[in-house]
Amino acid sequence: MSTTRFQSEGASDAPASVPRVHVVTFGCQMNKYDSLLLEGRFASRGYVTTPTMDDADVILFNTCSVREHAEERTYSWLGEIKHAKASRPNLVIGVMGCMAQRMEEEVFRRAGHVDLVVGTREFQRLPELVDELRERRANPERFASAERRILATDTGVAVQVDRSEESYGGGRHAYLAVMRGCDLNCTYCIVPATRGRAASRPIEALVEEARWMVAGGAQVLTLLGQTVNSYGTDFPAPKKGQPRFRGRQGRPSLADLLYALADIEGLERIRLVTLHPSYLTLDLAQALAEIPQLDRFLPLPAQSGSDSILKAMKRGYTTDLYRERVRMLRDRVPDVELGSDWIVGFPGETAADFAASLEFCDEMGFAVNYIFKYDPRPTTSSAEGLSDGVSGEVKKARNQALLAQAERVGLRRMSAFVGQDVRAFVERPAERGVQRLFGRTLHGLPISLDGHSDLCGKTVRVRVTETTAYGLSGVRAVH
Ligand code: SAH
Ligand code: SF4
Ligand code: F3S
Repeated sequence: MSTTRFQSEGASDAPASVPRVHVVTFGCQMNKYDSLLLEGRFASRGYVTTPTMDDADVILFNTCSVREHAEERTYSWLGEIKHAKASRPNLVIGVMGCMAQRMEEEVFRRAGHVDLVVGTREFQRLPELVDELRERRANPERFASAERRILATDTGVAVQVDRSEESYGGGRHAYLAVMRGCDLNCTYCIVPATRGRAASRPIEALVEEARWMVAGGAQVLTLLGQTVNSYGTDFPAPKKGQPRFRGRQGRPSLADLLYALADIEGLERIRLVTLHPSYLTLDLAQALAEIPQLDRFLPLPAQSGSDSILKAMKRGYTTDLYRERVRMLRDRVPDVELGSDWIVGFPGETAADFAASLEFCDEMGFAVNYIFKYDPRPTTSSAEGLSDGVSGEVKKARNQALLAQAERVGLRRMSAFVGQDVRAFVERPAERGVQRLFGRTLHGLPISLDGHSDLCGKTVRVRVTETTAYGLSGVRAVH
């Protein structure tokens, strides 16, 4: 009897001679995209992906550095597999992603059983690097013990992607990194250090990859970038006689990419993660108004509602500027929903600054909010220059207070849909409940509804009956 990767709890069904790789992913959606990309690279070199570490020949950790807790989790996982290395000497253990980029050799010092540390722009080389490592290990007379480890953390290299020879295995919901890196310099943020300078991929290459995903069954595409709406700003301006686009000085912009993707037959929904207020343009608002496949939801992190904190964060906008951009957006797309990230307890944040955040959350009416307690990250200017002035107790209390406010505001936004018919794209069976389905409204809000799983992948009309602060629920509307 054959078993699939998902049915078999213990091990993959590949013959023993086929090498097996297992990737553990922490952090954001870009890491998820990168892990799938890498699994494809390994597959084209003859590997299978195994669902467990127990029978893996290569175990990779795709890591996050955004808060200290994320790094601690990786070290605790690494600690747990130390014994496996002792009993399986041929096992290869690698650390990739943001923490690898940030810590480089320090990973080897803290976890002596790690063989490879590979940064955010070089991870596609991992299959070759694993071969090289094996080669070095097999020839101890030619390679000193220090050379039986590999560090690859150049951030100057462009990430080029060609998956056309592989088969897409990512399911109905696909991620697509359209740009990576960040040219801004928020004083709290480690990302520019871990992900490097902004680098966008050409529109044609992205359309080609999206078509490949759709041909393999994807219907929803989430476009990813650290600041996804800065897409194209790193391209050179077109020369005389070359085609001109909607971006600054004729450069390609996110709006151009969206119009190109909207032509793909079978692509039902397009989502964006994450936008920066400074790059919110009229062209993007127009695209949102005109492209029906695009979710009318924008994650547009405000971070704080206090001008002096925004200045200390070097966010590049004031609350007035933020208001102005949102006004421009809502003029064209009156029903757009917004999401925000918030940092509470930034150094120097007073009770009045914090009260301004509570107020701003309410004023802007954010439907979805993610709240973080400020965490000083090594090498960032807020950690090195400013004291971490707000006590743990205060941070905790502010976190609770903003969460409560976010719940009130979220509930208010969601409640506006109760009694209405909305269109929702059904993604999958719900985790709980028989004949319950999970979907998202065209405004990007989570919705649960009744129905058979054959509705998955379809857009249906739903009568909203109830809501919490975190999502809607309803029944299928009769036409
Ligand atoms: N790549 C991500 C951005 C990562 S940072 C993306 O594109 O969405 C995600 C959120 O973490 C930020 O919006 C910010 O609110 C929070 N964050 C970043 N650095 C932080 C820090 N030092 N302390 C607390 N929260 C932080
Ligand atoms: Fe983590 Fe940020 Fe890197 Fe994403 S970009 S993997 S959230 S550190
Ligand atoms: Fe981070 Fe700010 Fe860039 S939050 S990803 S430095 S825009």
